[in-house]
Amino acid sequence: MESAVLESPATRTASATERYAKCIETSKRIRWDIDRDVIRGREFDFARKFMPDGLSKVRDLPFLRPQQARFYSHVQGRTYANMFALVERFIGAKTIELSKSHALGDQVALEALIRFADEELKHQRLFRKLEGMVAKGMPDGYAFVPEPNAVADAVLSKCNWAVLGLTLDIEIFSQAHYRASIEPDTNLSELWKDVFLFHWKEESQHAIMDEIEWRAEDARVDARQRDQGVTDLIALVGAVDGIVQAQAASDARYFIASAGPTYSAVEQALIEQTFLRAYRWQYIVSGAQEPRFAEVLKALTTPVQMERIGAALTPIVSATA
Ligand SMILES: [Fe+2]
Ligand SMILES: [Fe+2]
Repeated sequence: MESAVLESPATRTASATERYAKCIETSKRIRWDIDRDVIRGREFDFARKFMPDGLSKVRDLPFLRPQQARFYSHVQGRTYANMFALVERFIGAKTIELSKSHALGDQVALEALIRFADEELKHQRLFRKLEGMVAKGMPDGYAFVPEPNAVADAVLSKCNWAVLGLTLDIEIFSQAHYRASIEPDTNLSELWKDVFLFHWKEESQHAIMDEIEWRAEDARVDARQRDQGVTDLIALVGAVDGIVQAQAASDARYFIASAGPTYSAVEQALIEQTFLRAYRWQYIVSGAQEPRFAEVLKALTTPVQMERIGAALTPIVSATA
């Protein structure tokens, strides 16, 4: 709310239009093609890692030999690409829905949101392609558990306010992961790193638009609807945690079965726990703690609502500590 509340509706519209125009300009300038710009005829280098140590928590498994640690990063990197393809299904569908509200209004916003949806379709295509490429270099038995359309149906059944909050969180953490962990790690597969460099470039505009749309939705709803939004956002975080738990269990089973040596019961339990802690960090906690997301959330909620959200997050945050 903050400054937007002090502006007249006309001023607010003008500044949102300018920000949408800037997103279009940047989107046109950096637009990339999957094969020509990202893949460039390359394959994944399995002699190098995919998921950086800063996100994978591999340092919590000191008994892994270098080859096993690399395989651990491949499993997590494969899931990371699949998770983006998953969330982009509902983000794309929601963006198309939002664009309709501008169809006979702000044509700049409409164009920006259509580009946004188009980019998410391209990203899904990229991640599907990567799954096929990565599968060729890894042992059989990997499974990606959640089904994108079932997840999208469940997410989109929640109110706009909550879906926009979750979406902003995801678009912000995708950038934070790149800047803080993927970019600085010099031991990653060049192709894997490039995928997330190019992805990050387009996600930057998405996060700006999510924030505009979330604030606009917040200005439309009344106090009761906003409170329902908080309830729905908490439910969505719980749903993400359910997905993360199922995928972590599946990936740990696959890793233990395929990584090489036989692990003791204690080591197996540690591997299972570390997959879960890493995924909770990657998909929930790192985003919730990003200052840019936290600031918007705080601006749109009351202290009591922030407490409710904090209480829901506490068990997940403490499990990643
Ligand atoms: Fe994306
Ligand atoms: Fe995005």
